[in-house]
Amino acid sequence: MQLSDKKATLSFSDGSAPIEFPVYQGTIGPDVIDIRKLYGQSGMFTYDPGFLATASCESGITYIDGDKGQLLYRGYPIDQLAQKCDFLDICHLILNGDLPNKEQKAEFDSLVTHHSLVHEQLHFFLRGFRRDAHPMAVLTGLVGALSAFYHDSTDITNPHHRQVSAIRLIAKMPTLVAMAYKYSQGQPFIYPQNDLSYTGNFLRMMFATPCEEYKVNEVVERALDRIFILHADHEQNASTSTVRLCGSSGTNPFAAIAAGVACLWGPAHGGANEACLQMLEDLQANGGVAKVGEFMEKVKDKNSGVRLMGFGHRVYKNYDPRAKLMQETCKEVLASLGLENDPLFKLAMELERIALEDDYFVQRKLYPNVDFYSGIVQRAIGIPTSLFTAIFALARTVGWIAQWNEMLSDPDYKIGRPRQLYVGPQVRDVPSR
Ligand code: CMC
Repeated sequence: MQLSDKKATLSFSDGSAPIEFPVYQGTIGPDVIDIRKLYGQSGMFTYDPGFLATASCESGITYIDGDKGQLLYRGYPIDQLAQKCDFLDICHLILNGDLPNKEQKAEFDSLVTHHSLVHEQLHFFLRGFRRDAHPMAVLTGLVGALSAFYHDSTDITNPHHRQVSAIRLIAKMPTLVAMAYKYSQGQPFIYPQNDLSYTGNFLRMMFATPCEEYKVNEVVERALDRIFILHADHEQNASTSTVRLCGSSGTNPFAAIAAGVACLWGPAHGGANEACLQMLEDLQANGGVAKVGEFMEKVKDKNSGVRLMGFGHRVYKNYDPRAKLMQETCKEVLASLGLENDPLFKLAMELERIALEDDYFVQRKLYPNVDFYSGIVQRAIGIPTSLFTAIFALARTVGWIAQWNEMLSDPDYKIGRPRQLYVGPQVRDVPSR
């Protein structure tokens, strides 16, 4: 963070003395006004529910330019990363600051691969859930429970412990998600197989049974790997901010990531991919492309409570670059699986076409986000809709843990503690009773 020559001055209409604040510059993107001394000097807080204009931290991991539709991980554009790297390259990049060279890659991949087994007792813990429990309910519980199984990496003041926890989380998440799925199907858990890639191993743990050999389909493996890459980090979104806030109390990393999983579940965040596919399926069942116009009228009617899921974003006011890559992958996967005429894909393309020409969407700068096409890809691969958000959580774990680690490595970090504008009753006496 670099001090700018500029300063910001806050003046008051009641004649109180103006207050001057320092302004800091990042490497790219908007400057920030440092208001940390505001309360001490004025007795007032700033008011910004929803954090519309508040930078809650400094970070060197991910950068988004919402107007340009640009996303960078550690400075690298997402489209280049998606085309030239695999997910474990991205994990190394996000966690350690740069892409691995050949030796680093071999070492990192092996480290993750050799941490993918989970404690056998976790199988019994999982069996306590109902078989029809939502996978995100199961995952929130399983990730939180990791702190009860891996005590030896929970000293957050020890950088080695933090590194071990990070690797454990990245490595075990696919195993946990696949276990949650197998349990819901009443099928036996499949143990990891170390000669497969991170994503190939996940596909096998999901879809293999002990009854026959499972062969990983390379197109499907590449598509899922891309989904992981596109979801790996997204700066200070709701779940990442939740992980930071939760972790700022000094809690252990597994507890902090479980909080992130819980936050991600909501339909305005990671739950949107599930909600988007449900919307497409409902629309298909109720008339399909012929009813798109009618549906769009409902979306535009504020009293209907209907939103076009997979559209709009707090930061992107242009096409989400992840959505473009996802649409490409969608075409590739459907073609390779012989599903070129998938009616949901046709429906999604039609909704997008209409939305991009409609004044309502144009004026509000609403474009497809990553979730608009990712559900169609996952459905084609055979992943059930209820598991979509768990896949997102699996991929986002590296971002969460890197952001948590970045926060703890900052010598100036403090517990997160927002203030409020109190509008409740004034002091009053309890009446005699
Ligand atoms: N369909 C219809 N109208 C919309 C939509 C939508 N999907 N999104 C925003 N709007 C309208 C909204 O009604 C408002 O209109 P007005 O100005 O007339 O009141 C305007 O656009 C601004 O919307 P907002 O809700 O104030 O914007 P926000 O930044 O608070 O919300 C959002 C962002 C992502 C929650 C919202 O766009 C949304 O609900 N989208 C659908 C859910 C979704 O796809 N979420 C996934 C986000 S990307 C994955 C992730 O990061 O988790």
